[in-house]
Amino acid sequence: MSLAKKRILVTGTDGFIGSHFTEMLVRTGAKVRALSLYNSFNNWGWLEDVEVLSDIEIVTGDIRDAHFVKKISRDVDMIFHLAALIAIPYSYVAPDNYVQTNIGGTLNVMQAAKRVLFSPKTSLPIYRWE
Ligand SMILES: NC(=O)c1ccc[n+]([C@@H]2O[C@H](COP(=O)([O-])OP(=O)(O)OC[C@H]3O[C@@H](n4cnc5c(N)ncnc54)[C@H](O)[C@@H]3O)[C@@H](O)[C@H]2O)c1
Repeated sequence: MSLAKKRILVTGTDGFIGSHFTEMLVRTGAKVRALSLYNSFNNWGWLEDVEVLSDIEIVTGDIRDAHFVKKISRDVDMIFHLAALIAIPYSYVAPDNYVQTNIGGTLNVMQAAKRVLFSPKTSLPIYRWE
């Protein structure tokens, strides 16, 4: 399946995997809306170093906000969901945060999509909007 010219929402683009994946998608010709977790410094994390930054639509927000997720998913063909809390030590300190982000946030993304596919090559979950 060609991703060129597809409108794609990627979450977690301020992160390690999401930033590199976004750059790859843009170089493939996709139109990417990149979600970066909001912070008061207006910093986009790893995404700041992406060479194709001017070709990306960047939105800041939080996947724990169902209305927000629904809004930014409305006019895309596909969603790649890479936003997550990954640090195991901190999950013992603030477990609620992990449940709200990794479970609740993922549920919000899935509810914003109508069809869920799994890419056989990457095993990355792909959430697709019909
Ligand atoms: N890095 C790896 O080697 C690796 C390997 C296999 C799977 N993964 C998976 O890929 C995903 C991304 O991993 P990563 O290494 O890029 O992690 P990362 O921490 O670099 O990126 C995750 C991003 O999610 C964002 N985020 C966290 N909470 C959010 C929220 N509430 N709303 C919006 N954004 C939020 C963070 O700001 C962060 O930049 C994770 O699900 C991880 O388990 C990573």
